[in-house]
Amino acid sequence: MGEKRLLLDIQDLRTHFRTDDGIIKAVDGITFQVNRGETLGIVGESGCGKSVTSLSIMNLIPEGTITSGQIIYHKSENEQIEITKLEPHSTAMRRIRGNELAMIFQEPMTSLNPVYTIGEQIMEAVRLHLKADRQRARQRALEMLELVGISAPGQRVNEYPHQLSGGMRQRAMIAMALSCSPNCLIADEPTTALDVTIEAQILQLMRRLQKELGMAIIIITHDLGVIGTMAERVIVMYTGKVVEQATTDDIFYNPKHPYTKGLLNSIPQIGRKERLIPIKGTVPNMTALPPGCYFAPRCPEAKDICHREEPAVYDVGNTHTVKCWLYDQGEGRLA
Ligand SMILES: Nc1ncnc2c1ncn2[C@@H]1O[C@H](COP(=O)(O)OP(=O)(O)OP(=O)(O)O)[C@@H](O)[C@H]1O
Ligand code: SF4
Ligand SMILES: [Mg+2]
Repeated sequence: MGEKRLLLDIQDLRTHFRTDDGIIKAVDGITFQVNRGETLGIVGESGCGKSVTSLSIMNLIPEGTITSGQIIYHKSENEQIEITKLEPHSTAMRRIRGNELAMIFQEPMTSLNPVYTIGEQIMEAVRLHLKADRQRARQRALEMLELVGISAPGQRVNEYPHQLSGGMRQRAMIAMALSCSPNCLIADEPTTALDVTIEAQILQLMRRLQKELGMAIIIITHDLGVIGTMAERVIVMYTGKVVEQATTDDIFYNPKHPYTKGLLNSIPQIGRKERLIPIKGTVPNMTALPPGCYFAPRCPEAKDICHREEPAVYDVGNTHTVKCWLYDQGEGRLA
């Protein structure tokens, strides 16, 4: 493997929403890095803060919602940009968004505009970011539709989102996201709405494009199967916190956190005959989190201290960290 070069450095990020019911700490002190060209998976149950993490990186959430921490984009070896210091609507941020960091949203229909054709939408992205003229932008739109495997691109380019099937729409969204050759693609549940065959095609497409374009991918999913086929490293999130971080192999074959083990036990695995065991209970209400470890009420391994004090983060290997009292040897750090 080549030398690892840092692309995104996320330090102690906190994204908190004020609501009538209280403050929701959707992302609450997470730290992780993304290297150039790699695929990082983010996994966790619904509501654990995966989408808010990605929207924070894209600076697409209201100002003042990121209450602390830093997101540093390493544009090149000599140029770093602190995204958390840029205003969401500033020219500098708009230049980065789409051009260098692109995102495929969880809901394709909400991010594709129903009143414009697919071609117009890709052209708009290309013209905005690459300053191409109309003819060049149209050509680029056709190239991108072809690249993502849309047949008869000359015809599709003139169609509206509702005229395409779910799989086609997802491809069109990928085409739009990739039209400016970003350094990093954030794919938020890119295949959830699709059936299994189309899912496999889309994942394969993303892997191929990643090789061709050399971009990093952050793939966000609640599905460990998708993580297994795509990611080299994984972060596991629970209630706005990173509870485990490791290589994909370690997450699958050497999981440490009881929550990660619970996620693994609840998915079917090839060659395994035991019954699937779902994690008991549900994700707690984000405005009424339990004291101590937020997973304690559901954790089969909880000890007394777990119900009283938040666990620190411990190193359990070179590239493997876990936020759990079971690994306490007096060397943890708060995160
Ligand atoms: N704009 C908002 N205002 C208030 N709360 C929000 C807002 N956006 C998200 N949240 C809350 O933040 C928490 C994390 O949400 P997020 O969308 O990041 O979850 P997720 O991990 O992406 O879940 P899913 O798998 O369902 O997509 C949830 O409790 C959600 O209700
Ligand atoms: S800290 Fe305690 S409750 Fe939390 S995951 Fe570890 S063992 Fe379970
Ligand atoms: Mg989400």
